[in-house]
Formats: sequence, structure tokens, C-alpha cells
Amino acid sequence: MQNRQIGQRTVSAIGLGGMPMSIEGRPDRDRSVATIHAALDSGVTFIDSADAYHLHADEVGHNESLIAEALGSWGGDRDDVLVATKSGHLRPGDGSWTLDGSPEYLKEAAKASLSRLGGDAIGLHQFHRPDPDVPYAESVGALADLLDEGVIRMAGVSNASADQIREALEVLGGRLVSVQNQFSPSFRSSEPELRLCDELGVAFLPWSPLGGITNAAELTPSLSAFAEVAEAHDVSPQQVTIAWLLAKSPVVIPIPGSSRPETAQASAVAGDLTLTADELAALDAAG
Ligand SMILES: NC(=O)c1ccc[n+]([C@@H]2O[C@H](COP(=O)([O-])OP(=O)(O)OC[C@H]3O[C@@H](n4cnc5c(N)ncnc54)[C@H](OP(=O)(O)O)[C@@H]3O)[C@@H](O)[C@H]2O)c1
Repeated sequence: MQNRQIGQRTVSAIGLGGMPMSIEGRPDRDRSVATIHAALDSGVTFIDSADAYHLHADEVGHNESLIAEALGSWGGDRDDVLVATKSGHLRPGDGSWTLDGSPEYLKEAAKASLSRLGGDAIGLHQFHRPDPDVPYAESVGALADLLDEGVIRMAGVSNASADQIREALEVLGGRLVSVQNQFSPSFRSSEPELRLCDELGVAFLPWSPLGGITNAAELTPSLSAFAEVAEAHDVSPQQVTIAWLLAKSPVVIPIPGSSRPETAQASAVAGDLTLTADELAALDAAG
């Protein structure tokens, strides 16, 4: 497994996205724990979560608790593993996702996340999504306060435009370490934010890198270039996608979601795949 940086922290170049284990269609707890263990045993040292990864209204933090449980029962060194979470999204239990970016809410939510994850501080806390009812600087200001108070060790933002990334960097006094935006073969509109992160040396964490939970198995059949390169290397199109993302910039750390040990393992070994310049150009052009 190659390594990459999030702030001063070295993590595996490929992370694990926790969402499929806690929302609609989630597996039972034993399979989820086995999935997290499979990723960790394959060298993954970065797991992405959020307090809003749950299904019913009364189980906020389902995914954070699951990750804490899996780390507790794992035989390896949990101190090597960086768990990132987020706040700012809520799930009232009717299938919808709502927003609260008020500083008061974000601070309370982070403290609740810390109590579920355990330890002295949250390794990486990310503002989940801009709330149009709250000035962006006020929401990100809550992360600055949480850093100052020692509740969180590192701060990131998600679903941010280039202007919001620059604003977050300023509000945090340069302490922005990560940006998590949607990016996949079929969704490339965050390329400017990826390039900005590359310039700034800020980690870029593509979410739904395989096209999302419902599309990942097919991986957009229209993008035949991914299937052709996969066939040439005797790997899956999903593994080609992860290798293509890694090649975009040294700041990119894909976080493919999994709900099965098999997919967690398959994603973790995708970093071993090296694509030629011609292949990368063909994949870039296939968007
Ligand atoms: N910041 C945000 O707003 C935001 C939004 C969405 C997601 N996220 C984060 O990003 C993570 C990834 O996104 P996502 O889970 O929505 O979508 P995704 O990673 O594009 O796709 C997830 C699906 O891919 C399948 N998969 C994973 N690795 C595979 C492989 N090597 N071969 C074949 N199939 C594979 C999994 O199947 P199985 O279920 O069968 O294992 C899983 O259901 C989430 O888990 C979450 O942490 C963040």
C-alpha cells in the first residue's frame, strides 16, 4: 500500500468510505465489522465517516459507533488509523438529508462524534456541506474553535467550491488539510477544486469515486475505456478507476465505500496497478 499525507499525518493512499454500512441497504453489524477489518488487514489506515451516516432518526452516529467497535476488536495498532468524520448534515429518518451549518450545532455535533469515536480528539473533522442559511465563514469558524479547543486535531471541508476552499483556508488560518468533493469517471465537475488542492498541498478526497452505491457495480457501462484498460491488466474497472484517481495528483486519496470484505480488499490493492501515460490519457478523455 502506498502512503499519502493528510496534514502532518501519513495515511494509506486508498481509504475506506463507511457510508454503505450505515444507510439504506446496509448489511448486518457482523458483516460491516468484517468489512472494516478486511480493509485494515489490507493496509488501509484511513476511514471516512459522518455523524449523518445512519438510517433511523434515533441512531445518529451509527457509522461512527460501528467504526469504533471494529477498531476495538481489530488485532492491529489502531493508533495507525486515522478516522475522519463530518457534521453539518442531518437525517430526520424519512430518507432525506437536511442541513445545519450553525456554529453552535457543529460544535455540539463534533463533541458527540468524539464521544462515539473515543480517544482524546477527533483525528479529522470535516464540515459536511455548506448551509445556504449560514455564512460559510461562520460554519468554518466553528472548526477553527474546535481546533483551538483541542476537540479536533485536523479540519477539512466537503462539497466546497474553489472560493469556499480559499475562504476556509483563511478562516482556519492555513489549517485546512482536506477537501472532500464528489469525483468519479462519470462526475468530474470538481476538477478545478482538485487542481486547487494540488496547488495548495491540501488532500483531495474524492467521494463516490466509483459512481456511488447504486452505480458502482456497473461503473457506468458507457465509459468503455475503463473496461478496456481493466481487461488489458486483468483487473476490474473499479480498480482501474482507483488507480486513475491516484494518478491525478499526489494529494488525491480515494475513499471507495464498501459493505463487503471482498470489495474492501479489491479496492485496497488497486494502488498496485500502474497505468501507462497513454491509458491515463484515454481515461481522461473518456469523461
Ligand atoms: N462528503 C459527502 O457529501 C459524501 C457523499 C457521499 C459519500 N461520501 C463518502 O464517500 C464514500 C464513498 O462513496 P460511496 O460509498 O457513496 O460510493 P462509491 O465508493 O462510489 O461506491 C460504493 C460501492 O462500491 C462498491 N465497491 C467498492 N469497492 C469496489 C470494488 N473494488 N469493486 C467493485 N465494487 C466495489 C461497494 O459495493 P459493496 O457494497 O457490495 O461492498 C459499494 O457499495 C462514502 O462511503 C462516504 O464515506 C461523502
